[in-house]
Amino acid sequence: MPCETVRCAVVGLVQGLEDVYTTLHHPRYTLVAVCDQNPQRWRWLTGEEDVDKVDESAALFPHHKEWVRESRKAAGFADVEYLPDFDDVLARDDIDAVILVLPDLLHAEYAIKALEAGKDVLSTKPMARTLDEAFAIADSARQHPNHFMLGFQVSYSGFATAVREVIATGEIGTPRQLRFDFDRGPWRPVHRKKYAEVDGSMIKEGVHWLDMIYRLSGELPWRAIAGFGGQETFPDDFEFEDSGVLIIDYPGFRAAHTFSYFRQPLTRSEDFLLIGDKGTIRGTFEQFAVETDAGTRTIVPTTSPLPAQYHNGYYEMADAFAAAVLDGIEPYTNWRTGLENMLTCHAAQVAVAGNTMVTRESLADLDWRVKFGQETSSAAQLIEA
Ligand SMILES: NC(=O)c1ccc[n+]([C@@H]2O[C@H](COP(=O)([O-])OP(=O)(O)OC[C@H]3O[C@@H](n4cnc5c(N)ncnc54)[C@H](O)[C@@H]3O)[C@@H](O)[C@H]2O)c1
Repeated sequence: MPCETVRCAVVGLVQGLEDVYTTLHHPRYTLVAVCDQNPQRWRWLTGEEDVDKVDESAALFPHHKEWVRESRKAAGFADVEYLPDFDDVLARDDIDAVILVLPDLLHAEYAIKALEAGKDVLSTKPMARTLDEAFAIADSARQHPNHFMLGFQVSYSGFATAVREVIATGEIGTPRQLRFDFDRGPWRPVHRKKYAEVDGSMIKEGVHWLDMIYRLSGELPWRAIAGFGGQETFPDDFEFEDSGVLIIDYPGFRAAHTFSYFRQPLTRSEDFLLIGDKGTIRGTFEQFAVETDAGTRTIVPTTSPLPAQYHNGYYEMADAFAAAVLDGIEPYTNWRTGLENMLTCHAAQVAVAGNTMVTRESLADLDWRVKFGQETSSAAQLIEA
């Protein structure tokens, strides 16, 4: 008889604490085990070590502590096992899926190991540190169809879903232009060690927004990316482009994306304007207006049913992973979407770091669509084609 819930393990227990909290409160999951090589993380969860007394130097923030407290209260928590060693997770027959929330340098190695062990994998962003690593994951994911999902929660959020639904009604006509401004902050000292692992702020931070833009473009292959970047917030001790602007040219569609990372956000962190040939959508993740000749209506996107959810779209992302594991529905964020995102981030990084323009043609040797001869990243569209 097929399982009714995803029997899973969460691996890596800092950001992964949100996955612990989510899976413990989601009807389609049974959290069998958690894994972290550092036993302190398990002591936080059991309460053996008071998480409220842990200070910022441990890279733990108020939302992490909230997830710990709420996880401990969940009905299923008493049955969760602690496994310090990932190989022990892979050896367990009663664990079907792993949710990997590990440092970036382990993303490729651990995802491939888990796929080879027959597990379903939900891996946090970025897909990998480099395109080479991402291609290695893709090679393995292609041998294990529908077993690999990437954790770009923003594209599953109530906001992104509601915008896509409006587009699908035809109300704003064909989308032609997008302007999306995102200001993220504040800076936290712990980022210094984490950012040393990857090549640039586009792969570390820009992934979510570039994926959301890609999805709203209708998953079109971009043709060119122009960028201007600056290192302005912490110029003395931190060499990351933390402010800038990108212009992405898709066939028939253009996106302008300004970003500032590590600044205190302004009154709101995002500002969104999508212009179609019959109307516009404008607003924020919390609320947006649809403006057409017929008038203006306001949409308030749905949010997670879990009160301590911190990241927009996390619960809905868990829905999608459960649908992949239990119902065989390939998620939007599959290995193809992942490679498209890596290519986009790579080009964006080159553009903002060099104040230049990068064409897709110039990156043909890194282009998964060329390598695998595919026109789309969506399984449904591939079947239709
Ligand atoms: N989806 C999102 O919005 C989002 C948000 C924050 C972080 N992230 C991603 O999550 C990942 C982890 O970020 P973090 O802030 O939790 O990092 P972190 O370094 O604070 O925590 C990683 C955890 O993994 C554990 N770990 C390291 N090696 C291990 C191993 N071999 N086996 C088992 N456990 C191991 C560490 O002990 C640590 O507890 C990063 O890739 C980051 O990009 C995603």
